[in-house]
Amino acid sequence: MLEDLYLESKKILSRYEEAIRPILPDAKKQQTLDFLHGDFLEQDFSSADMIFAHSTCFHDELMTALERRCMSLKKGAKVLLVTKTFQSAFFKFLKMEEYPMTWGKATVNFYEKVE
Ligand SMILES: C[S@@+](CC[C@H](N)C(=O)[O-])C[C@H]1O[C@@H](n2cnc3c(N)ncnc32)[C@H](O)[C@@H]1O
Repeated sequence: MLEDLYLESKKILSRYEEAIRPILPDAKKQQTLDFLHGDFLEQDFSSADMIFAHSTCFHDELMTALERRCMSLKKGAKVLLVTKTFQSAFFKFLKMEEYPMTWGKATVNFYEKVE
């Protein structure tokens, strides 16, 4: 959403394309990676297999909107939330794990869309 971060992500993507993609196994070389400059609440989630949200700083209204948007996910899709949780019964809680971030340890909550 923030232009500076978007432009930085495109620079890092160029480095990835030059330095990393050529050394990937063939199957992984075919995968595409891109960044969108916009509001994730306006994206179509219906074909997504997995949603990752680095949601530590997301306020309550944003979490509610994200959870509502994730209702359009297909059954079996996974959602990974850093620090925050979902409340709806449409998401089965799978596990909680701690991962090191640059800023410290973070709790990641794993969900599966059930209906
Ligand atoms: C904790 S930062 C994560 C940055 C980076 N994606 C990462 O995983 O390290 C959360 C990011 O979510 C972005 N964000 C918050 N609401 C958004 C929205 N509605 N659409 C797109 N990005 C949003 C913020 O601008 C911020 O950059």
